[in-house]
Amino acid sequence: MLTGKKILLGVTGGIAAFKAASLCSKLVKEGAEVKVIMTQSATQFITELTLQALSKNVVYTDTFDEKHANSIAHISLADWADLVLVAPATANIIGKMAAGIADDMLSTTLLATQAPIMVAPAMNVHMYEHPAVRRNLAELVSRGVMMIEPGEGLLACGYTGKGRMEEPETLVRVVDEYFNREAALDKEPLSGKRVAITAGGTVERIDPVRYITNDSSGKMGFALARAAKRLGAQVTLIAGNTQAEPPAGIPLIRVSSAQEMYEAVQAVWADTDIMVKAAAVADYRPKETAAQKIKKTGDSLVLELVKNIDILETLGKLKTSQYLIGFAAETENVEQHAMDKLKRKNCDLLVANDVTAQGAGFGTDTNIVNIYDASGLVQSLPRMAKEEVALRIMELAASKVAGTSR
Ligand code: PMT
Repeated sequence: MLTGKKILLGVTGGIAAFKAASLCSKLVKEGAEVKVIMTQSATQFITELTLQALSKNVVYTDTFDEKHANSIAHISLADWADLVLVAPATANIIGKMAAGIADDMLSTTLLATQAPIMVAPAMNVHMYEHPAVRRNLAELVSRGVMMIEPGEGLLACGYTGKGRMEEPETLVRVVDEYFNREAALDKEPLSGKRVAITAGGTVERIDPVRYITNDSSGKMGFALARAAKRLGAQVTLIAGNTQAEPPAGIPLIRVSSAQEMYEAVQAVWADTDIMVKAAAVADYRPKETAAQKIKKTGDSLVLELVKNIDILETLGKLKTSQYLIGFAAETENVEQHAMDKLKRKNCDLLVANDVTAQGAGFGTDTNIVNIYDASGLVQSLPRMAKEEVALRIMELAASKVAGTSR
């Protein structure tokens, strides 16, 4: 399954480096072309010669040991790879990657590459649980680095716990699944479908200088738009207040209030196959918007709020052939509230995030979501980059609408 795939294997200095031999051999047997970079510490555990013999390629250990006069090795390797797999990945290389340090052949190549990166951590359980390592791993996940979680068991240091690098056959399977999925995405399963996505928070004006809004940055909605486009859809974005950079090349309709968002959604609704409501819409707005700045008078000020239209619920009632995906930002009883919203708003899928969880919800680069349909939980996604969450949601939607036409 890996025929012709170019895999750059980074081996760092932990006892699990001995597994790199088996990993390299298995990747080559699956048809991959493998080139290896070892850190100096890795060479304390396994020899260059072993990995050279198994990969049938020169092994790189030193940034300044240029083997070919007409190229710079760390750049040409970075450009050559379809995938970079760092296995085992020590706490040290994870820290360097998170900090952007480039002080040896592997860390320099990791900075130079634009290829996707997978990391298989291996270390002592206490190191793995150290807040610095947790923070560095979270930083890498938010940048889209794919993490192959270590297994639990007896570690070489004598401790029992999490930190043992996954077995080579598991790593090969994960790599294989990655390339299979990429191939499926390249087939553009949403080709011919029109997808509308709402993003960001609405703004409800109190007076010319004050308003009510929320913490939505637009990152989730923008990631969904990029994902839908990657899957071949014709995408329209409707965005309220956002801090994130909108995706290039996707038509963007800017709105402010919930009412404006409703009108924009209505305008595209009839020509939409899949509607994704990732925006955080205000449930209430000030009854009156003052024409002039409200002056400070008494010790208190009463602001009367009136209910906004529930856009998603309205679409749920209007729905004919459209596939409707809602979001739910919850702080407690996530499943119960999510299922209640799914039914009440007549959604086909509902993506629930517990916005109190670290690395989930408003403003973050990662999210943790559960996806429900009318029969209950469909997918539970651990913390991953919003870009990846978005791809999973759009892939699921593509599988649900496959073969349907309007
Ligand atoms: O933008 P980010 O910083 O990346 O953050 C992403 C997010 C946390 C905003 C996103 O993942 C999310 O959860 N969006 C939905 C937020 C929300 O409004 O949740 P809710 O539970 O209040 O609403 C449920 C659903 O009804 C949502 O699809 C919402 O768009 C919709 N709704 C709500 C109220 C309203 N008046 N009209 C609506 O359409």
